[in-house]
Amino acid sequence: MDDSTTTAESHFSPPSPEALDALLTDYSVTELVGQGGMGAVYRGVQLKLDRDVAIKVLPKTFGADLNFAARFEGEAKAMAKLTHNNIVSVFDYGETTDGELLFFCMEFVEGTDLHHIIHTAETSVAHKMSYLGQICDALAYAHANGIVHRDIKPENILIDKTGMVKVADFGLAKVDHASVDSGIELGTPDYMAPEVFDPTVEIDQRADIFSMGVLTYETLTKKLPSSESPLTSALGFDIRFDALIAKAMATDPANRFQIIQELKDAFREIAQTPAPAKKSATPAKKAARKKLVISTTRRATPPIPAPKSNPTGVIILILLSLVVIIGLVMAVVNNANKPEEPVKPKSSGPFIPKLP
Ligand SMILES: Nc1ncnc2c1ncn2[C@@H]1O[C@H](COP(=O)(O)OP(=O)(O)OP(=O)(O)O)[C@@H](O)[C@H]1O
Ligand SMILES: [Mg+2]
Repeated sequence: MDDSTTTAESHFSPPSPEALDALLTDYSVTELVGQGGMGAVYRGVQLKLDRDVAIKVLPKTFGADLNFAARFEGEAKAMAKLTHNNIVSVFDYGETTDGELLFFCMEFVEGTDLHHIIHTAETSVAHKMSYLGQICDALAYAHANGIVHRDIKPENILIDKTGMVKVADFGLAKVDHASVDSGIELGTPDYMAPEVFDPTVEIDQRADIFSMGVLTYETLTKKLPSSESPLTSALGFDIRFDALIAKAMATDPANRFQIIQELKDAFREIAQTPAPAKKSATPAKKAARKKLVISTTRRATPPIPAPKSNPTGVIILILLSLVVIIGLVMAVVNNANKPEEPVKPKSSGPFIPKLP
């Protein structure tokens, strides 16, 4: 194999379709479809059944995450058990013949993804609501089967030519916290709930609910939410989206929708009932003054112990004393080693007069 593996320090560099083709006995690989934070996806044909498939390959190890390959196997099996219209079916998994890469083979979705829909297509709110509702259905089914997606983002939401949503990378083995700490780039954290970055917290379905809040804001506005973002109502959307997004994105999981069905019900309510009557003549202007109330620090950093006394002043004092002491010692040493002849200034560079 040529350049297809990764190390703890480097990013994954995917093999060419031809190189991968030579490493897979049961598939013919035709093209590289795309590359994400952890691996790459190819289009191919499963030879025995003569069907189109997508093949995702991942490096066997991710830096410090030595258990990655073992967890991959367990999670590929769990994914294969998920049978739902809105979830990309997984057909097979294994490793390449040289033992360097893991792969899994899945249904090929001919169409587009939500990233493309959000940023390049003109799509009605009704269609967007339909996509969001279908993602909720996929998540409700997976959560009921004990699987949390953990990486809900537009690139993982595929949409086929009939408008059917197919959520990809369901429950796929993710690099654990050890590797997050080792500095490996896992892709954008923009959609991830704050607790995902806290190794002491057990992740549950509410992490996906947070991601759905981010996805909802972005699907409507084409922008990722931040603490500076305007409410969606300020941009002309139904005022009920403000509360829905704020609740889905609550920093504390206890304040979010607790199960995905609650979020789906909130979507349905907005889709099927008229927007509440506007109280003032200019609600959008009022809303424009308000900003999203969301966690600005998504990454939950380990708590820093509170200082007992004011340590900053003490540290500065110690540093200053050290500088003075070192300066004095250097002066004494320099004096002792003083050359007999005065040092001539170097010919190159400007002359800098010495201060008296
Ligand atoms: N089953 C599939 N059928 C067709 N296209 C797919 C399929 N799975 C993924 N893709 C396409 O391949 C691209 C790369 O997918 P990949 O999962 O490697 O990256 P990602 O989703 O951007 O990031 P991540 O590694 O976090 O999932 C996606 O953007 C998607 O358009
Ligand atoms: Mg993906």
